[in-house]
Amino acid sequence: MTKKDLDPQKHRILILGASGYIGNSIYKELGPYFRTFGTYRTPKKEFENNQQFFQYNVEEDDVYEILQVCQPTIVISALRGDFNAQFIAHQHIAEYIVAYNCKIIFLSSANVFDAYSKFPSYELDKTLSHSIYGHFKIKIENALLRLPKKQVTIVRLPMVFGANSPRLLDMKTAISDNDAVEVFPNLIMNVMYDKKLTQQIHYIVNRNKSGVYHLGSTDLVHHDEFTKDLLALITKKKVVIKQVFTTNEDRYLAVLPKFNKLPKHLQITSQEILEELEK
Ligand SMILES: NC(=O)c1ccc[n+]([C@@H]2O[C@H](COP(=O)([O-])OP(=O)(O)OC[C@H]3O[C@@H](n4cnc5c(N)ncnc54)[C@H](OP(=O)(O)O)[C@@H]3O)[C@@H](O)[C@H]2O)c1
Repeated sequence: MTKKDLDPQKHRILILGASGYIGNSIYKELGPYFRTFGTYRTPKKEFENNQQFFQYNVEEDDVYEILQVCQPTIVISALRGDFNAQFIAHQHIAEYIVAYNCKIIFLSSANVFDAYSKFPSYELDKTLSHSIYGHFKIKIENALLRLPKKQVTIVRLPMVFGANSPRLLDMKTAISDNDAVEVFPNLIMNVMYDKKLTQQIHYIVNRNKSGVYHLGSTDLVHHDEFTKDLLALITKKKVVIKQVFTTNEDRYLAVLPKFNKLPKHLQITSQEILEELEK
């Protein structure tokens, strides 16, 4: 008997963007427990040989076809790609969600608040963005928030780090190429660790949680200090730092929870993230 047979809920989960950094981490976390399907865009043997994976290009393919084949009870959206095409895809997902009593977990971003710079943001704060990316995330969030409450979970994320995260790999490449690493000295943010994030999403699935979740470290850090601490973990070399000043004043890009707090064992501090990355 496998773990999947033991699970009483028997969720069927479809992860859009399951070949990506966060989507794949979620796939590895949930795969042993639920019937989990995923999409990839870039052809790769690993996914082509996996019956649970479907090739999907948001700009060309109709997501509804994949939904009808997988018949998920939960869709986890961890996609990137053309913003207009993603918006249309999420409209189709919304139709499926309503028709089949399915749920969606949408990975959004702290950037939905990037027009507010004076404070950290909480779940019920009004979203407002000056960036194209933030605008796009707000547009999908708002479309999903019109659906029945119990069927929608919006997860807002700050920068996510992990041993194989693109951000850390980019730093390693910059170090070996003797390139500068950019820091934003005025940026105060919180951060996230990929392995804790996937546990948090597992908890949201298990407990059938819905609503808006701010999944970031419990404390705030300066971008330049956190980056320098990270660099010290991964190299002994003296790295050239390029300071990028976007404003003269401190600017917050942080998502903290006030209403939807997770249990203590699922919380993490920025220091604990550094300690995890040091292992
Ligand atoms: N990483 C972070 O720090 C962070 C922070 C806040 C929010 N987020 C959000 O989390 C989600 C996942 O981010 P990530 O960092 O894991 O991104 P990622 O590593 O770039 O993965 C993106 C995924 O989307 C797929 N994809 C890209 N273009 C596509 C297209 N045209 N059609 C269909 N699929 C396409 C990729 O497929 P292939 O790889 O197979 O091409 C991959 O599976 C995104 O929605 C992002 O906005 C991430």
